[in-house]
Amino acid sequence: MSLVGAPDRLVLLADPAVRSAIAGEFGREVEYYAATGSTQDRARQLADAGHPGALIVAEEQSSGRGRQGRSWVAQPGTSLLASWLFRPLPADPALFALLSGVAIARALTDLGIPEARLKWPNDVQLGGKKVAGVLADAVTGANGGALVLGIGVNVHQRDLGELSGTATSLAREARAADRLALLARIDRELRRVASDSDERRVFLEEWRLRSSTLGREVEVRSAGAAVRGFARSIADDGALVLETASGSHRVLAGEVFVA
Ligand code: BTN
Repeated sequence: MSLVGAPDRLVLLADPAVRSAIAGEFGREVEYYAATGSTQDRARQLADAGHPGALIVAEEQSSGRGRQGRSWVAQPGTSLLASWLFRPLPADPALFALLSGVAIARALTDLGIPEARLKWPNDVQLGGKKVAGVLADAVTGANGGALVLGIGVNVHQRDLGELSGTATSLAREARAADRLALLARIDRELRRVASDSDERRVFLEEWRLRSSTLGREVEVRSAGAAVRGFARSIADDGALVLETASGSHRVLAGEVFVA
């Protein structure tokens, strides 16, 4: 693609020799698509077929999926769109998705963008707007449990169109990054958090420090229900703990709105 401001080497993954070298480094097979339906769906296919592990990357998705049944839309070549298949299941899917936000924030820090904040459960923010999201799909079946983890990072977008009130990109808030370098750093952090429960505790502590949710009056909406309260803490399983008028309340899923 033509780039504004930063070299971008993600297209190198189109070369099978590069993919094979990177697969050795990442410890999982890598697939790269100029265009596909959804990397999440492709990783899910591999999971259902019993594949031991994979990383699927695309420049463009025609049916990208977001949390809570939403779609994930990105202009071709603008974003990091990737799904990892982890087998066995590295941790509880909701907790792992939450900690993946820390993996993204750390990767950005490594690329000179240290200021990312985390909105419960899985959003990464810059300047108060969403720059990345995480989707976790647990897979069960004859081949044992697995996790398909999808990450979308807005990188090169100059204009977020109708989403510009709530979404942003690295190029808009900080600087455009090389998506291959970003991918490598996210993968390194995900491997770290997948392999070690002590690391998960460290990541969870970092989540708390980077949180834009804790310490605020919020409303969490999920499946037609809403709970209002003061966002007191994150439990060790990733649940958001609210102080409500009727006492302490654990929330496991939903969308946070500042009240
Ligand atoms: C969210 O709603 O915040 C989660 C967004 C996850 C989007 C990524 S892009 C790569 C992968 N493929 C998909 O279809 N979705 C995820």
